[in-house]
Amino acid sequence: MMDAASPVRLERLEHVVVLTLDRPKALNALDVATLRALDAALDQVGDARAVVVTGGGEKAFVAGADIAAMSTLTPVEAAAFATLGQRVFDKLEALPMPVIAAVNGFALGGGCELALACDLVLAAPNAVFGQPEVKLGVIPGFGGTQRLVRRVGSMRARELCFTGRNVKAEEAVAIGLALRVVTEGSVKDAAVAMAHQIAAQGPVAVRLAKRAILDGDGADLRVGLAGERTLFALCFATADQKEGMSAFLGKRAPAFTGS
Ligand code: CAA
Repeated sequence: MMDAASPVRLERLEHVVVLTLDRPKALNALDVATLRALDAALDQVGDARAVVVTGGGEKAFVAGADIAAMSTLTPVEAAAFATLGQRVFDKLEALPMPVIAAVNGFALGGGCELALACDLVLAAPNAVFGQPEVKLGVIPGFGGTQRLVRRVGSMRARELCFTGRNVKAEEAVAIGLALRVVTEGSVKDAAVAMAHQIAAQGPVAVRLAKRAILDGDGADLRVGLAGERTLFALCFATADQKEGMSAFLGKRAPAFTGS
């Protein structure tokens, strides 16, 4: 458990971990302390089977990198800041279990980039995405010019990075920036429910599926398929495979152990 003053809260719900970026007075903007707290929280995820990332307060997921903190950076300091943000988001993306962003309001700049580092993105009706950095005279620095291209395609990413315009929840779904809009109940509850659904599947298989997708992202198809074959074979070394298939054949529910 993180200490009470930490800008990132960690909550365990059985096999699911919820990470809440919690600086609501600054709309959960990412300063160095918040990025470091997120970095430390990622070390505590342990053997969770799925992770949910959300924002504290009513208005924002994360409204971006902290503009007040960035305003006086030298180029060398800006490079260090982008390196820190990219390293933490790389670490989040590389977590072995699926990560779901529950976007409960503004996901702008670094907040949109945080959602892009997650495997799945659920949007509240008031979710707003965008890369507004050009309005501030800068460009995205935590992966926006790279992951946005991969998620929504090159031309759409160019439009969003060049105009800085906001994208509302429905459009975010239409362009593949979000999976769906949650219209009933809170987006956090919907993300937790999805995380529990993932956690009920063969845990090793879920991790290996994520591994295969991540390793194949950007790789040549033949290389990706070779990796998939190897990881498929590895499943047959697990107790979960034996349990999953014998439960199916025995017409009973599987009791996975994650081994
Ligand atoms: N950094 C620091 N503080 C921020 C912030 C940010 N990114 N976003 C909001 N805040 C602060 C505001 O300064 C304000 O603080 P005070 O109450 O002390 O004045 C508080 O949060 C509430 O914000 P607003 O009063 O502005 O709330 P609003 O509802 O009127 O507007 C908003 C909400 C449209 C999100 C607006 O706050 C906004 O445009 N924020 C900036 C969004 C942005 O440009 N993000 C990109 C940052 S650059 C970046 O992220 C670079 C990168 O890729 C690494």
